[in-house]
Amino acid sequence: MNFFWKIVLFFVAIRYGFFEVVFPRVSQWAVNSPDLLPAPAAAMSMYTWLMMVAIAIYILSSEERIADFMTPIHQFLKPQTAAAKKGMQIVVLAAIPLFGGWSYFDVNSPKMVSPTAVRIQHPTMPGSFEGMKNPLRDPTEEQVEEFIAEQKELAEEAAEDEEMEPVTVPNNIEDGRIALVSKWTEEGAALYAVNCRPCHGMQADGVGPMAVGWRLQPANFRDPGTIATIVEEYAFWRVSKGGPGLPSASTPWDSAMPIWDLDLSENERWKILLGEYFLAGVGPRQTEKLE
Ligand code: HEC
Repeated sequence: MNFFWKIVLFFVAIRYGFFEVVFPRVSQWAVNSPDLLPAPAAAMSMYTWLMMVAIAIYILSSEERIADFMTPIHQFLKPQTAAAKKGMQIVVLAAIPLFGGWSYFDVNSPKMVSPTAVRIQHPTMPGSFEGMKNPLRDPTEEQVEEFIAEQKELAEEAAEDEEMEPVTVPNNIEDGRIALVSKWTEEGAALYAVNCRPCHGMQADGVGPMAVGWRLQPANFRDPGTIATIVEEYAFWRVSKGGPGLPSASTPWDSAMPIWDLDLSENERWKILLGEYFLAGVGPRQTEKLE
């Protein structure tokens, strides 16, 4: 075998034989892993470049080696015999286009590989949602009075109808406010059970019956890193605009979270947030006030 092919064989044996075949198996055996452990792509490209530089230095360090290495290349470019000419034609007209086509296919075909970029769960929210407040956490005096009046009517009905549960009527505006918010919270939890439970779970722990179907798992609201760490208007944005509303910083995996402003009114979305925070046993983050 001449010098040129020895160099090519050496390169292929180390680059592919050792790094692609031997190395992942030795690493797997060394740490007793169930999977092959390939070398990281960044390290591989460094090794490949270093090998090419080392080989180039080795060849260029003597006139004799340069000549030995170049002879087959010259012969290939200026074929001396008819057979060599034929060989070159095959390489140029068939092998190179085939290799080009295969590489193009290989680079562009879909693959199952983990993305290298880190996903950002909480990108900046759009300005239009900033400063919004959940109107249901602080009902107006009129709303509370109306509620108390309703409760009074219900209580009168209940007094006459034996089958109805007794109804408590709040004595004052403060009690009325608390009772009204807890009524809305209950209604929110019911809306949550219908719309959100399939993915986020009845315990708000992110493991609803549909959760297994998603690559990007539904948020676990009991985890302090989710709704407890965001202000309520941020959660309102996420519920309103869902996965499609996320900016590209939140790729590579697309979120299955639906766009709820298509199906639920603004009031229902705020109500669901009352229920959601309640079920998760956490509260929204409060905006820090500058002293
Ligand atoms: C089809 C499944 C699905 C349904 C149904 C669903 N979600 Fe989600 N939700 C997700 C996924 C997946 C994520 C995580 C990715 C993301 O942030 O978009 C998520 C994230 C969220 C977040 C962001 C949490 C955070 O800290 O970033 C909120 C808030 C949320 N969901 C609320 C709701 C509410 C409220 C409902 C019901 C009205 C609901 N979701 C219904 C799949 C779902």
